[in-house]
This record gives sequence, C-alpha cells and structure tokens, in this order.
Amino acid sequence: MKRLQNKIVLITGAARGIGAETARLMAKHGATVVVSDILIRQAEQVVTEINNAGGKAYVLELDVTSESSWKSAIQEIIDSNGKLDILVNNAGFLVAKGFEEVSLEEWQKLVDVNMTSVFLGTKVCAPALRESAKYSKQGSSIVNISSIAGMVAAPNDPLYAMTKGGVTIFTKSTAVAFANKGDRIRVNSVHPGVVDTEMGNLAIQAQAKRLGVADTAKVRKLSEDRHPLGRIGETSEIANAVVFLASDEAAFITGISMPVDGGYTAQ
Ligand SMILES: NC(=O)c1ccc[n+]([C@@H]2O[C@H](COP(=O)([O-])OP(=O)(O)OC[C@H]3O[C@@H](n4cnc5c(N)ncnc54)[C@H](O)[C@@H]3O)[C@@H](O)[C@H]2O)c1
Repeated sequence: MKRLQNKIVLITGAARGIGAETARLMAKHGATVVVSDILIRQAEQVVTEINNAGGKAYVLELDVTSESSWKSAIQEIIDSNGKLDILVNNAGFLVAKGFEEVSLEEWQKLVDVNMTSVFLGTKVCAPALRESAKYSKQGSSIVNISSIAGMVAAPNDPLYAMTKGGVTIFTKSTAVAFANKGDRIRVNSVHPGVVDTEMGNLAIQAQAKRLGVADTAKVRKLSEDRHPLGRIGETSEIANAVVFLASDEAAFITGISMPVDGGYTAQ
C-alpha cells in the first residue's frame, strides 16, 4: 500500500543517513520528495537513485540554520509543486564531547543545526502546511527527528542532549498550539537509538577515544549491548516510523515522542 500518494514532502539533511533513507522510502510510498541539504553532490546521488527506481524527487539546497535559505526553499516548493504537505526536520549535528571540552562556537553550531533549524522550518513552512491541510482529509504533518538523547541522559554529550530535549518539548508544544488554533497540522517526534550512519559511527569513535580503546568494534559492541534488542538500528527502521507518523494512518496522533531504539529508553 502506498501511504503518501500525491504528497509533497520536504526533508532536511537528506543527502545521507536517516534523511536519505527516509527520502527513498517516502518516494516508494508515492510522495514527491524534496531532498534538501548543504551537501549537494551527495543529495544529487540520492535523487538519481530515487528517480531511477521510478520515484519522484529533486534536490534543493537548504542550510537549515539560515532563515533566508528556508524562505527561498519554501518559495521554490510552492512555485514548483503548488503546495507542501509534509515537513521532516531531520538535519542534525553531533559534537561527541563532554560539556567541559566544548567551545562556545561548537555549542552555537549545535543550537543552530539541531534547534534553530526546527524553529525556522516550523515557522517558515507553517503557512504552506496550513493551506494544504484545507484540501486534505487528514491534514498536514511535521515529523521532527530528536533522539534517545532528547528523552534520557546522554552523559557522553550533554549539550547534544540539551538540543534534542529542546526538540522533544517544542514538538509537543507546537502540536498543541496548532491544534488549539484549529490548524490541521500534526507534529510528532521520532527518537532513534544509535543508528548505523556517519553520525552513529562518530559517536562510537568518540567513545573509543574517551575510553582509550583502539578497537572500535569493541566499543560498538558496548553500544549494541546498551540496547535491549542487542544491536544498533538501521536507517530503514527509523524511516518506517517517519513514514507512519507522516501518513494519514497516524491521523489521530499528534504531540508524541516515538522511540525507535531497540528498547533503550524502556529501561
Ligand atoms: N545516527 C544516530 O545514531 C542518531 C541517533 C539519534 C538521533 N539521530 C538524529 O537523526 C538525524 C539524522 O542523523 P544521521 O545519523 O543521518 O546523521 P548524518 O550526519 O549521517 O546526516 C546528517 C545530515 O544533516 C546535514 N546537515 C548538517 N548541517 C546542516 C545544515 N546546516 N543544513 C542542512 N543540512 C545539514 C548533513 O549534511 C547530513 O547530510 C539527526 O537529527 C540526528 O541528530 C541520529
């Protein structure tokens, strides 16, 4: 069953990792996917793959930390497609350091990429999402990618956790704010455990350095063991949750924080 037929979707940070896999899956479900990132060459590869598989996608350069970049992006989407139905705020940055080692510049970057991005995306895309909801039986949808670090302690990177905790509560607050105004825009967050991407691997490498362990396979095993299912996640497992929350099947779901973490936050 195609869950996103005729939907126009904007995904941030979609050149690789979780964002790229979500773009592939959403296209398989019939959506036209705007693959946005600052890594244009990699984004083009994702788009070529989707279009070669019979899906519909195109690249849009979008720096999520810049309001003017967001404004140009939404203008282009409306000019090209006439509407926006779904926004996936996925772009993210991990500093992978204890808070005493982080510089003010690194903190500012964390805030900009992980939080300012979600604020700007929600603000700039809200009018288009509100408008498209008028013509859709179940309304529009925003899915924010937070983290297990936005739900429980992340002692190895408390500042990353602070930004992801911000996304968790912004999601709930905007969900209720839209609903209170009668806007038919649902907002939910997805909270991945450690996932096999460049960011996931960076976290494992940083942990190995901290522990003074040369063999990253050993540290990966430690990470796997912290997830009750005994492994780390695949990008497709996160993408499946995003597709569900974005789809009309989740019509009565707004303001939730959905862990996709092999049981990590259940402990
Ligand atoms: N991989 C994990 O273990 C994990 C766990 C929990 C949450 N997450 C979250 O999932 C999301 C995706 O992570 P991933 O693992 O695929 O990471 P990744 O590093 O592989 O991909 C992140 C993408 O975001 C893009 N990006 C960074 N700064 C940007 C900017 N200013 N403007 C536009 N795009 C920008 C990057 O270019 C990259 O394509 C992030 O929000 C991350 O915090 C990841």
